[in-house]
Amino acid sequence: MLVDLRSDTVTKPSPGMREAIAKAEVGDDVYGEDPTVNKLEKFSAELLGKEAGLFVPTGTMANLVSFLTLTKPGDAVILAEQSHTIHYEVGGLVRIAQVLPLTVPGELGKLTEEDIILRYNSGADVHRVPVTMVSIENTVNRGGGVFYNYEEICSISRVCKRLNLKLHCDGARIFNASIACNVDVKYLAEPCDIISFCLSKGLGAPAGSVVCGSKELIDRARKFRKLLGGGMRQAGVLASAGLYALTHHIDDLRKDHERASIFRWTLENKGWKFPLPSPTNIVFISVSNAYELKEKLKGKGILVNAVSNDRIRVVFHRDITDEQFDYTLKTFLNIAL
Ligand SMILES: Cc1ncc(COP(=O)(O)O)c(C=O)c1O
Repeated sequence: MLVDLRSDTVTKPSPGMREAIAKAEVGDDVYGEDPTVNKLEKFSAELLGKEAGLFVPTGTMANLVSFLTLTKPGDAVILAEQSHTIHYEVGGLVRIAQVLPLTVPGELGKLTEEDIILRYNSGADVHRVPVTMVSIENTVNRGGGVFYNYEEICSISRVCKRLNLKLHCDGARIFNASIACNVDVKYLAEPCDIISFCLSKGLGAPAGSVVCGSKELIDRARKFRKLLGGGMRQAGVLASAGLYALTHHIDDLRKDHERASIFRWTLENKGWKFPLPSPTNIVFISVSNAYELKEKLKGKGILVNAVSNDRIRVVFHRDITDEQFDYTLKTFLNIAL
C-alpha cells in the first residue's frame, strides 16, 4: 500500500473530471476565445462575489500577479513571516514585483489589526518605504491550516481601508476555510480587493488557480499574467477540470477535515504531541527526528513531509481511501517514536 500524505497537491483527476476534460470545448484563450476558460472565470467570480476572474496556471503565479496588480516597484507589503509567499515562491515578490516585504512573526502565520498599524508607514519621511498592501493567507499552510474567520478579515480590512492599503488574500485553500468556519466563501472574499484560490489542491484538479476581484483590477492582472508567460492557449482542457472541481468536489473537503481531526485525536490520546492547531486538513506532528521518521514511514508505504528536524506534516485529501486512512492510523500507532 502506498499512502501519499505529503500534500493535497498530489490529488489526481477523478473519473468524472477526466470525462469533463475529454469533452471540454476549447479556443484560444489569449484571444479571449476559450469558452470553458471564460465560463470558469465567470463562475469563480460569482462564487466569490467578485466582478471578474482570471485563470492562471499556478497558485504561485496567482500571488505574483496579485502583487504586481496591487503595488508598484518600491512599495512595501505587510505579510506573515510564515506565509507561503515568503517561504516557497522563490522570492518572486522581491525579484519580480520589486516590493519590500515587512514580515510579521508568529507560528500561526496570521495577522491582526495591530500588526498592520505597528508596521504601517505612509512613506512621507524621506527614509521610509510606503506601505501600500497587506497580504493574508487563508487557510495558512505553515500555520497548521488555521483559518481567518469573517470577523478577523473584516477587522483587517477596516484598518486597510483607513490607511488606504490594498488587501490581498492567498486563498489557495479558501474553501477549506469556508467549511471550517461555516461561512459562505463570498463573505470571506468580500473584504479583500483581490483573492485567489487553487483548483489543484484539495479540489483535485490537475492545475490552475483563479484570481478574483473588480473588473478593473482583473483587466490589469490579465496583462501581468501575459508578462509572466501565463497566457495559455486551449486552456479549456484545464478549466473544465476546474469547473468540475467547483461543482462536484467542494463539499468533499469536509471529509479531509474530519480525518485530520480523527487522526490527531487518536494519536494525541496515545501521547503524541502536536505543535499547532489542526482545524482543517493539515496536521503538523512534533517528533524527535523528523527525517528519520519520514524514512521509516516511507519504508511502510506512507509518504509524509519533514518540514524541520522536529516536525512532520501530513495532509489529508480526497485521494485517500478509507482503507488507506485506517492503515495510516494503525501504522502511526505502532511506530516507535
Ligand atoms: C497557501 C499556498 N499558496 C500558494 C501556493 C502555490 O501554489 P502552486 O503550487 O500551484 O504554485 C500553495 C501551494 O501549496 C499554498 O499552499
